[in-house]
Amino acid sequence: MTKTDIVILAAGKGTRMRSQLPKVLHKLAGKPMLTHVLDAADKMEDAHKIVVTGHGAELVRATYPDAAFTMVEQSEQLGTGHAVKCALGELRDQAKVIILYGDVPLITPATIAKMLDAVDDEHISLLTIELADPNGYGRIIRDDQGAIEAIIEQKDANSDQLKVSEVNTGVMALTTELLNAWLPKIGNQNAQSEYYLTDLIAIARRAGYRINGVQPISASEVEGINSRQQLATLERAYQLQLAEQLMASGTSLADPARYDQRGILIAGTDNFIDINCIFEGTVTIGSNVRIGPNCQITDSRICDGVEIKANTVIEQSTIGDFAVLGPFARIRPGTQLGSNTKVGNFVETKKAIVGNGSKINHLSYVGDAELGENVNVGAGAITCNYDGVNKHTTEIGDNSFIGSNSTLVAPVSLEEDSFIAAGSTINSTVAAGNLAVGRAKQRNIAGWKRPTKNQ
Ligand code: UD1
Ligand code: CA
Repeated sequence: MTKTDIVILAAGKGTRMRSQLPKVLHKLAGKPMLTHVLDAADKMEDAHKIVVTGHGAELVRATYPDAAFTMVEQSEQLGTGHAVKCALGELRDQAKVIILYGDVPLITPATIAKMLDAVDDEHISLLTIELADPNGYGRIIRDDQGAIEAIIEQKDANSDQLKVSEVNTGVMALTTELLNAWLPKIGNQNAQSEYYLTDLIAIARRAGYRINGVQPISASEVEGINSRQQLATLERAYQLQLAEQLMASGTSLADPARYDQRGILIAGTDNFIDINCIFEGTVTIGSNVRIGPNCQITDSRICDGVEIKANTVIEQSTIGDFAVLGPFARIRPGTQLGSNTKVGNFVETKKAIVGNGSKINHLSYVGDAELGENVNVGAGAITCNYDGVNKHTTEIGDNSFIGSNSTLVAPVSLEEDSFIAAGSTINSTVAAGNLAVGRAKQRNIAGWKRPTKNQ
């Protein structure tokens, strides 16, 4: 059997989240909890995913417009057994079926694979864990030989059963054929008048089948989320795991407790990341990179030896080798900084291609611009790229010097070695090597009498 059908239960309301958003769409590490589960499921070969939705089904559908999964609706939440029953029509014959949960986001592909390996025509598998505080969970009942014989829900348990510390995580795997045979047998005569999926265990046992207990690699894999507090706690635990992986691969963190990765970070070695940095989307950093405190970097590539000083924001950009940025630089989408460039404090760039060795050190806006090599942009210089309707381009040739507080009114082209006098407004081509002075001439008026205060 190589076919795997993965049923993800996601119909619950999540009352304790106190939210309009379905619980499974709340984000962990920048990604909906349900997406974490779907991504883990995707690692399985020939997997068919079925998501059981109920509360907020439309929002779930809208979140995954080109969803590679089947959605079935459970309009009334009559229990976990009933929820899986809603998916029966979508299961393939001769498949191994695993039940996962949209609000248990950190299940790993390794554990899913282990669960599936423990299934065949005579065995079903159940993911269990020993907890110091088993309160609230279904308890695993084993016989004298240590074989699993039943799960008793907390609300149905007697005082001896309540003492059992091995609990049901909810994750179970078995064949389509066995699910089809047994699910219709589940009743709802219990403390919650629900159809319990967990009753399958006793049914399997009575029919002479064996239940293989499997344990997760880490407890966070089976952590379920019911409240925003639990979500925040799991977020920190997950971030710590990511921080530890990053350090193990050769990047130092000033404080692993103050590191946030909401996506994928690919890093070389000997980097240093100071506190409170946030990495989003896909970020690649080379080696020997230093990132100061409070930086936010999204979908960007940072090359070797770059220094990013405090409070710098970088989105969808490429930063060349040994560039120095910040503090307080804002690098907006489409920026490509060459090697050995400098972008200093309170500089904003957007769709700016900056040649090797060029500097924009203070208080500038450079947008829709192409700068050659070794250009110096003085303090406060601005590219006026927008006429209120369209965006226009500014071109600046190699070795040009843009005096402070100049405005370059695009479209405009400054050929190489242009020298722009400070305070100029430039709106026509500057030929190579020319000095352009575009400002009112200074007049000095001798004997000037200052105004006096009115009586
Ligand atoms: C369930 C297990 C319990 C286990 C615990 C682990 C049962 C009967 N009990 O209890 O043994 O220790 O999980 O967390 O299965 N859901 C639906 N439709 C429904 C009911 C539930 O989609 O009709 C979904 C919920 O959205 C939730 C999950 O199933 O994600 C678990 O449901 P819940 O009612 O919270 O089960 P527990 O009481 O926690
Ligand atoms: Ca629960």
